[in-house]
Amino acid sequence: YKQLDNFPANFLWGASISAYQAEGAFDTDGKLLSIIDKYLHPEDVANFDVASDFYHHYKEDIQLFAELGLKAFRFSIAWTRIINVETQEINEKGLAFYQQVIDECFKQGIEPIVTMYHFDLPYFLEKKGGWKNPETCDAFLTYANVLFEAYGDQVNYWLTINEQNTMILHPGAIGIPENGELPSKKELFQMNHAVLVAQAKTFKLYHELNLKGKIGPAINLTAMYQATASPDDAIAAHNWETLRGWSFLDAAVRGKHNYLFEKYLHDRQWYPTITSEDTLALQEGAPDFIAINYYSTATIAASKNDGSDVSARAGDQQIMLGEEGVYRAAENPYVGKTPYGWVVDPTGLRLTLRKLYDRYNLPILITENGYGAPDKLEEDGTIHDPERITYLTQHIQAIQEAITDGVDVFGYLPWSAIDVVSTHQGFNKRYGFIYVDRTDHELKELKRIKKDSFYWYQQVIARNGLE
Ligand code: BG6
Repeated sequence: YKQLDNFPANFLWGASISAYQAEGAFDTDGKLLSIIDKYLHPEDVANFDVASDFYHHYKEDIQLFAELGLKAFRFSIAWTRIINVETQEINEKGLAFYQQVIDECFKQGIEPIVTMYHFDLPYFLEKKGGWKNPETCDAFLTYANVLFEAYGDQVNYWLTINEQNTMILHPGAIGIPENGELPSKKELFQMNHAVLVAQAKTFKLYHELNLKGKIGPAINLTAMYQATASPDDAIAAHNWETLRGWSFLDAAVRGKHNYLFEKYLHDRQWYPTITSEDTLALQEGAPDFIAINYYSTATIAASKNDGSDVSARAGDQQIMLGEEGVYRAAENPYVGKTPYGWVVDPTGLRLTLRKLYDRYNLPILITENGYGAPDKLEEDGTIHDPERITYLTQHIQAIQEAITDGVDVFGYLPWSAIDVVSTHQGFNKRYGFIYVDRTDHELKELKRIKKDSFYWYQQVIARNGLE
């Protein structure tokens, strides 16, 4: 293009966090335990008990977000603060906390964007089988009802489930169950189906309530490249793209499981039990938009069929191998990497957005994207994070290119608004515009300090895009 289109005037420039990674206060004011509180996590890094203590700092933090110029702030609600799933009692203190967060957002002119479920299943449900137990689906609907009743007339953007595909394909990424055993593949795909049904019923419930806002799923979506021009690599790459991304979204958006995914499950005896009520539920619920978390692309080659196939997600080799006979991950010489080994590929975001829009033609909200690094607090109190600024600049440019291509992207909410605990790599892996002064092992005063990227993003938002 000779010239790029401008970002729309009402583009939602924002940033994201999740409850368990930011709030801390893990047992305060009636909050019950979630799987995150009980699962096993690496012992040498921070746990989630205090995190960034957003629970006690939310006012100060949202004021900083206003100074940053955020138009939108994405946070998740902890189910375990809202309902005691055992007694069905509602915890008024939990409801009041999120009401204060929402009030503070509006007071500061920030649009709250709410994730209903970000990895933190109530532990009581987990003990009863978690998503393998149909009661969990009913419990989720009860929870959804409570949220819509409390905040439905205020919140304009709802996200149902964060990264269902991570939960199912990389279950160990959010912790290991106490007995050290991850669910079997068959169990995981039964859980997957249950989550999809719960989500579809939530879409339907939301629309029946005639609320003024919009609701959508939030998937981790990643475009892929085939490693070579080999036709076998092309089939493997298509396998990967379907099984890792489209299969989740096809069910959520089209209301029907993807054909290749169904065949893949049947062939391995992993096909879930699906009732006719489930089939109907999937058909009846549909989203208004699609949210994606985008970090990296993958490069995929044909399986070697010898057990050496590796996963396309850095750090997860122990958790999920490539699928023998289906695909394996390959290196891509054309992309960079973060200090944590995650592929950096801004053009991959443009490609991901195009493919997503091609396939479903729904508006797109980018709910995560960011650069994890061990930032350093200098003696003079500054934090220089030029690599994060470069990463975000390049990704914002890619979004602008996608908008110029004609893709309907209506917001960008990088991960993370403020430093939070990483899913399994502790507090040293930071993503925020605002530094939280603590380490993995020392809480210090949890002071908030603006990074260089804070001042840079402030300018981006003020100008409605890059210079
Ligand atoms: C996404 C999750 O997968 O990636 C976030 O939704 C997570 O919860 C983010 O923090 C970055 O991953 P990590 O492992 O570096 O914290």
